[in-house]
Order: sequence, then C-alpha cells, then structure tokens
Amino acid sequence: MLRGVVLAGGKGSRLYPLTKITNKHLLPIYNQPMIYYPLFTLVEAGIKEIMVVTGGNNAGDFLRLLGNGREFGLNHLNYAYQEEEGGIAHALALAEHFSGGGKIVVILGDNLFERGIGSSVERFRRQRKGARILLKRVKRPQDYGVAVLAGRKLLGVEEKPSQPKSRYAVTGVYMYDAQVFEVIRQLKPSFRGELEITDVNNYYIRRGEMKFDILKGWWADAGASIDSYLEANLLAARKARKEERSSDEFKG
Ligand code: DAU
Repeated sequence: MLRGVVLAGGKGSRLYPLTKITNKHLLPIYNQPMIYYPLFTLVEAGIKEIMVVTGGNNAGDFLRLLGNGREFGLNHLNYAYQEEEGGIAHALALAEHFSGGGKIVVILGDNLFERGIGSSVERFRRQRKGARILLKRVKRPQDYGVAVLAGRKLLGVEEKPSQPKSRYAVTGVYMYDAQVFEVIRQLKPSFRGELEITDVNNYYIRRGEMKFDILKGWWADAGASIDSYLEANLLAARKARKEERSSDEFKG
C-alpha cells in the first residue's frame, strides 16, 4: 500500500518574525492553516495512511489542530517528532518504520498545488521501482532545486544554483520506493549542515531510476520568502472563490 508523509519540521526562518512563536505550517493561507493544503493533496490522490513529521516547540499544536484527521476523511493520523532541523531528508528518515517497507509519497508541508497530483501518484503506483518527481516551469528557478535536462532526459538536480540550467523547479512532492531510507543513511550533510533531498534525487537519477512529470496548474512554495507566502495566499483565495462560485452555480 502507498503511504503518505507530510514534512512539517524545520525553522521557517525565511518567514521570521511570523514564525517566532509558531510553526510555519500552522500559519494561515487564506482561510486554512498551511498544513491543510498538502494534507488534502495527499488525501485527494487516494492516500489514506499518512504521517505528519514536525518539530520545534509547537509540535503539540499539530495534534490539537489535526487530531485523527477526521476533517480530511481519515480515521487515523500518525505523527513523528524531528528533534533537530537536520534537513528534509533527515525528517523523512523518521518515517521509515511507518512506511512498512512499501513505497511512499512525500509532500512538503509548505507546498500548495492548484490541481490534484492523483495522475502522477497513479503512474507511480504502476512503477515497479525507483522514484518520481514533479517539475514545474517557474520564473525564479534559482530559489529551488532545479532540473538539469537534455530534452526529455533528466540529467540531475542542482539545489538553488546561482546560474540555473533550466527553468524547471523540482516541486515538493517526492515519490520513493523502499530503498530511500538506505540512501538517506549514506548521505553526508551539505554545506548548510542539512541532509538534502536533492542528494537523494540525484542518487535515483544516477541509477536511471528517476521518472518525472511536468505539473499542470500552479504550484506555490509558501515558505520560500515572505513574497511567496503572500502569493500562495492570493492563489489559494482565488482558487477557493472559484470553487465557491462553481458550487453556487451547481446549486442554481
Ligand atoms: O518547495 C520545493 C523546494 O523545497 C525544492 O525545490 C528544493 O529542492 C528543496 O530543497 C526545498 O527547498 P526549501 O529551501 O524550500 O526547503 P525548506 O528548508 O523550506 O523546507 C521545506 C519543508 O521541508 C518545510 O516546509 C518543512 C520540511 N522540513 C525542512 C527542514 C529543513 C522538515 O520537515 N525538516 C527540516 O529539517
């Protein structure tokens, strides 16, 4: 069975002082706490077994906010606590036991997607092994992990390069087979002292086991900067209003 992991640890220092007294993923995005969006994205893709990895002083608030996931149509939610901000791959390592030796879909707790990721998840379900990522063409690739492409061939990913080799950012959805935890165990911390998810992705690319899809619809990394936080709010508001309008029309 495919299980889902939402990563919601880290310092959130780029949104300081908004994150001085609370965890970034509890901040509002339009009318919902940030973490609701990635959780819904997983649930809408048909993933029912989910773990939330968080950290810092506000970890208890996630339990109060999300409980057993009833608002998301779940009966149960799993939680793990990241004791230090060791990076995305470090947070993911905490989901090893939960994964039960199966494939996982990981989503970053500050990532918002306009449309569902269900079709990519379905392709990953049918993928015998390896990994899968979602790429999106963006205006400022240097703020993200950037795909190095030769036509349709993915040659590698560079983390926040000053001279990006493409306009395609690696979004915060990562699908991995069970090897991922062994890969993480072999990682060395980067210059910023973190276990980088980009190093995990490059491992799969080097072995020829990484597939990718180009994302349709907008994508927002609400934690990249205060401007991207604002942008995520505006996009989420527009989407919510559009959905309200179409449900009003439906009701007549
Ligand atoms: O949003 C997509 C980008 O996310 C990718 O393009 C980059 O390749 C990837 O490295 C990542 O970049 P960021 O600099 O945006 O990552 P950030 O440190 O903001 O962490 C993203 C989420 O990961 C954060 O919302 C919570 C989780 N996280 C992060 C760290 C550092 C943890 O759970 N624990 C951590 O220690």
